[in-house]
Amino acid sequence: MTEPSFAGLGVAEPLRRALQAEGYARPTPIQAQAIPLLLAGRDLLGIAQTGTGKTAAFALPILQQLSAAREPAGPRAARALILAPARELALQIGESFKSYGRHLGLRQTVVYGGVGYEKQIQALARGVDILVATPGRLLDHLAQGKLRLDQASILVLDEADQMLDMGFILSVRKIISAMLGRRQSMLFSATMPPAVAGLAGEVLRNPVRVQVSPSATMVDEVDQRVFFVETPGKRALLARLLKDPGLGRVLVFTRTKHGANRVSEFLGKEGIAAEALHGNKTQGARVRALESFRAGRARVLVATDVASRGIDIADVTHVINFEMPNVPESYVHRVGRTARAGAAGVALSFCDPAEQAYLRDIERLTKRPLTVAGGQPARAAAPPQAPARPQASRKPQAPGRPQAPSRPQAAPAGPSASRRRWRPRRAAARRAV
Ligand SMILES: Nc1ncnc2c1ncn2[C@@H]1O[C@H](COP(=O)(O)OP(=O)(O)OP(=O)(O)O)[C@@H](O)[C@H]1O
Ligand SMILES: [Mg+2]
Repeated sequence: MTEPSFAGLGVAEPLRRALQAEGYARPTPIQAQAIPLLLAGRDLLGIAQTGTGKTAAFALPILQQLSAAREPAGPRAARALILAPARELALQIGESFKSYGRHLGLRQTVVYGGVGYEKQIQALARGVDILVATPGRLLDHLAQGKLRLDQASILVLDEADQMLDMGFILSVRKIISAMLGRRQSMLFSATMPPAVAGLAGEVLRNPVRVQVSPSATMVDEVDQRVFFVETPGKRALLARLLKDPGLGRVLVFTRTKHGANRVSEFLGKEGIAAEALHGNKTQGARVRALESFRAGRARVLVATDVASRGIDIADVTHVINFEMPNVPESYVHRVGRTARAGAAGVALSFCDPAEQAYLRDIERLTKRPLTVAGGQPARAAAPPQAPARPQASRKPQAPGRPQAPSRPQAAPAGPSASRRRWRPRRAAARRAV
């Protein structure tokens, strides 16, 4: 069997030239399967592990179709709409479109909350081929008559399970009702809980389901470990682990905004360059924190789940769950910030007795037990509703010597090296939704 190539999938020459410049030698499995179907105009539900190139799987066929049918968008109109759950992710998707479409001359913009309206209104005024947006701000522009979607014939929900979940579904429904009935729609995510998958039928028509791996499975390259540690011991454990320079670029997740601030302030006092990223910061501060982490000025980024989905930062060596996520899918996405594009990575979870029930849910979802790196599980785990605080009667456990592997095994030299190493790993399964 010959390996798939972008040319073999029908990707046009100007796009292939851009991919070459990006260092993409071969399509990833989700790209190999989704691109021909999307070029043929099908609606699609795409499920593939984190960091396996879902963005290009939808961006390439969209760019190709828009550039083939040169019908400029009218004033305030958009031809393709991509919705994402977080501002940073919307910006990143916009960058990907820009980079893959660099030889096509299509117009695009990104609209998202937390910044002024005026620049976005100006960008929308002439009409755009590609619009990437977070739902709230998009609805504002629609309501104010600064944007129309009645010419939009392509819709993407990235992180689709989150977009169809309670927080977003009403906004998404409103947005869809403003779009053309006759449109091509596509949903992508690494996770798709059955309860949410049912709602996919509201968006997709006669879709193909392309599932490269079972929902919520993790790439094999991520080494997942758990420390059983009481909450008061977590900071000391974090500081001790960070003494190892092998923890080169570390993303730490907390459940709350307040928690993210506290951990980043603690690390600052310990002399470790850290930034916090969460929804209580101004958009400017959010952008600066992420940039500082990307550029390596901050070795640690402490974030809430606002950074757990889709964000692509090269060479995150370690993800640390300072607090266990209470939604098991969040674990899959958090951990997926490392070990991207075929690279290796390490995920360490700090689990308090009260969080052991979350751990069980996670292991049940991912079907992969975590390796114990320190401490011992408390015998009778507290229920998940209990606050993640130690109980007065229980003595803090010594977390034991940290045994985190300091370096991801076989870590690539850099993002381009990891790209070259891409190996399709799993056979594909495709079935109708
Ligand atoms: N064909 C390819 N060859 C090499 N690298 C690729 C290829 N396609 C994508 N990449 C790179 O892989 C990384 C992950 O891609 P992307 O962000 O699209 O993953 P994803 O599947 O959307 O992950 P997530 O579920 O976390 O959103 C990016 O750095 C991207 O540039
Ligand atoms: Mg993605």
